[in-house]
Amino acid sequence: MVIVAVPKETLPGEQRVALVPEVVARLVREGCVVRVEQGAGAGAYHADAAYQSAGAEVVGLEALFQGAQVVFAVQPLEGDRLSRLAPGTIVAGFMQAHRDPARVKRMAEAGISSLALELIPRITRAQSMDALSSQATVAGYLGALMAAERSSRFFPMLTTAAGTIRPAKVLVMGVGVAGLQAIATARRLGANVIAYDVRKAAAEQALSLGAKVLELPISAEGEGGYARELTEEEKKIQTEALAKEVGGMDVVITTAQIPGRKAPVLVTAAMVARMSPGTVVVDLAAESGGNCELTKPGETVEHHGVRIHGPVNLASALSVHASEMYAKNLYNLSKLLIKQGALEPDWTDEILAGALLTHQGVITHAPTRALLGG
Ligand code: NAI
Repeated sequence: MVIVAVPKETLPGEQRVALVPEVVARLVREGCVVRVEQGAGAGAYHADAAYQSAGAEVVGLEALFQGAQVVFAVQPLEGDRLSRLAPGTIVAGFMQAHRDPARVKRMAEAGISSLALELIPRITRAQSMDALSSQATVAGYLGALMAAERSSRFFPMLTTAAGTIRPAKVLVMGVGVAGLQAIATARRLGANVIAYDVRKAAAEQALSLGAKVLELPISAEGEGGYARELTEEEKKIQTEALAKEVGGMDVVITTAQIPGRKAPVLVTAAMVARMSPGTVVVDLAAESGGNCELTKPGETVEHHGVRIHGPVNLASALSVHASEMYAKNLYNLSKLLIKQGALEPDWTDEILAGALLTHQGVITHAPTRALLGG
C-alpha cells in the first residue's frame, strides 16, 4: 500500500492545503494510506476530524514522513521537513526552482524525486492536473475584485437620480489564465474592459469575454503556448505604444509572465506619472518582479495619487476553493504515479518527465542546472 503524506504548510500566510478530505477519501478507497499532519487543513477550514472521517491518519510531524513514498504539498518543503524524507520519496508541489536553485540541489542530493507542478506541460491530457491554471484562475478573480474594491470609481455604469456614472475603464495586461479570469470578473461587474497581450490567440479569447482588444504590432508567441521575452527593440515599441493608452485608464490589472524569468515591465514609472490621480494598479506579477516598475511585492505604494498594489500569494486567500481545485489537480496527477494501490510511476511519460525537477540524485531540469552553473 502506498503511503501518501500531506504536511502542514509552513510558509507564512499560506492558507491552502494540498489534499482536501474528499480527495483523501478517494485515495483511501483506491488503497492508499494517507497521513495528514495535525492542523494541515486549518487554513482551508478542514478540521483534523474531517480528515479522520475520510480515512486519513492524522499525525504529528515525527510520524508524518515515516515510510511515506509520496508527499503532496503546496509550497516547497522547508529544510527541516526535507531532511526527514527517505531517498526515493516522490514530492509533488509548486517548487519555484528558479527562485531557490540551492534548495533544488539539496533535494537532488537527498535522492528525492521532485515533481514541480508549474512545469507540467500545457497539453490537453494534462489539463486536469494543471495547478498553475487552477491557482491562476483564483488569482485573476481576486485581483479583479481587489481592483474594484480599491478603486475610487464604480465598475458598472449607473443611471441614478444623482446622475449617470460611466463604467470604469479597466485595462488587463497579460491575457493568460489569470488575465482571462480578471476580464470575466471585471465584465461581470459591468466594467469597460480593454485587454492586451503579445499572443494572438489571447486576443480572440478576450473578445469572446466581451473585452475590447488593444492591438500593438508585436507578436511574441513562445514555446508551449507561452509568450517569449521581447527583444530590446520590441520592448521599446511596446513601451511607447502602451504609454499612449494607459493614461486614460481608471484601473490597470497586470498578469504578464515569462516562465522561469523575471516578469516583463509593462508599466513604467513614467506611465504611472501620466495616469490620473485615483487610478489603481493591481500587479498580479508582483512575486516574480512585477509588471509595474514601481511595484513592491506585498505592499501598496502611492505615486502622484496612483495606488499600486502588489499582492502576493493571492490564491491562498480563497483557501477553500483554491485547495479544492489544487487537490483535484494532485488527485489526477496521482493516477500517473499510483496504479491499483501500488507505486508505479512511468518516468518516461511526457507529463511526469516534463515536471520532474530532481530524480535519483540528479537535477533533471536543465534550466535549473544552468542556474547552478552546471
Ligand atoms: P503566463 O502566466 O505565463 O503569462 C500570462 C500572460 O502574460 C500570457 O498570456 C502571456 O502571453 C502574457 N505576456 C507575457 N509577456 C507579455 C508582454 N511583454 N506583454 C503582454 N503580455 C505578455 O501564462 P498562463 O496564464 O500560464 O497561460 C499560458 C498559455 O497556456 C495560454 O495560452 C493558455 O491559454 C495556455 N494554457 C494551455 C493549457 C492546456 O492546453 N493544457 C492549460 C492552461 C493554459
